[in-house]
Amino acid sequence: MSTRISTPITQMLGIEHPIIQGGMQWVARAELAAAVSNAGGLGIITALTQPTPEDLRAEIRRTKELTDKPFGVNLTMLPAITPPPYAEYRQVILDEGITIVETAGNNPKDHMPAFKEADITVIHKCTSVRHALSAQKVGVDIVSIDGFECAGHPGEDDIPGLVLIPAAAEQLDIPIIASGGFADARGLVAALALGADGINMGTRFLCSQEAPVHDNVKRAIVERNETDTELVMRQLRNTTRVAKNAISAEVNKRLAAGAEFPEIRELVAGKRGRAVYETGDLDAGVWTCGTAQGLIHNVPSCAEIISTITSDAAEIITGRLNSLVVSA
Ligand SMILES: Cc1cc2nc3c(=O)[nH]c(=O)nc-3n(C[C@H](O)[C@H](O)[C@H](O)COP(=O)(O)O)c2cc1C
Repeated sequence: MSTRISTPITQMLGIEHPIIQGGMQWVARAELAAAVSNAGGLGIITALTQPTPEDLRAEIRRTKELTDKPFGVNLTMLPAITPPPYAEYRQVILDEGITIVETAGNNPKDHMPAFKEADITVIHKCTSVRHALSAQKVGVDIVSIDGFECAGHPGEDDIPGLVLIPAAAEQLDIPIIASGGFADARGLVAALALGADGINMGTRFLCSQEAPVHDNVKRAIVERNETDTELVMRQLRNTTRVAKNAISAEVNKRLAAGAEFPEIRELVAGKRGRAVYETGDLDAGVWTCGTAQGLIHNVPSCAEIISTITSDAAEIITGRLNSLVVSA
């Protein structure tokens, strides 16, 4: 019999285990999301990895062919010189009958009426309690709270999960998913203890068998430790946690010397990051990776990741933690 940890979010999302694979640019495609969903977690495909809304439609259909379990679509709203056609991507999400959306990057208020009309469960991912409260106010169903440890955009407050998660739990009325720095059962148990109802992971699933990225990337994550990431673009208030490499060092060197965005634009271009995942050239560009890599020592399947986390978590709760409780 497999172990299950049931929480309010497993019920809300119709999943077996309280483990979510967050949206990941260039990585969260059909095969990864379907593998996570088939293993009883929630897989999420990233809308903007698809160059056009019609490509997103095809990717959603591809995911449906690979799983009949619930999966979500991530819609990331980040500052852009030419913003993507968000309303068109949203329309595809609605047309294709998606039931779960992860929003991130900005307040999702413009999208909420359409999502609510379609009865979509909205998970909003953000990095501060004040943003979480704003999202709750506009009607999101679940907040994914992303601590300073996370891969990608940790925001500008630098509050690690140990404080951010319980601070959010104290103030929010809706369920919380803990994100940033989670990679194993110890993290899941800690998240539950801190007041969250599940965990969201990026880096752990990036280093899974099904992640559609070059083996060099996975090998690097296994070999490196928690000190091998770097924050870039702090000066531009668009802080991003990436793998430490020649390009991240150059970006920081230029910005420290007073450079403006146009002088680093080419270095941080999305197509260069994409080239890292596709070619395995770890210095082709900046690539997103979190401090959780210090806890990652293998490249398992998504099913192994999820079953190991849940069974080890049950063992920690009923074994070690339980044995510490002494009745007077
Ligand atoms: C390669 C990669 C790409 C990511 N791209 C996105 C993205 O496009 N949108 C988004 O909301 N989050 C993105 N994230 C963040 C993850 O969804 C998740 O919040 C984060 O990885 C959690 O931290 P962890 O890596 O420590 O688990 C990305 C993470 C990784 C590792």
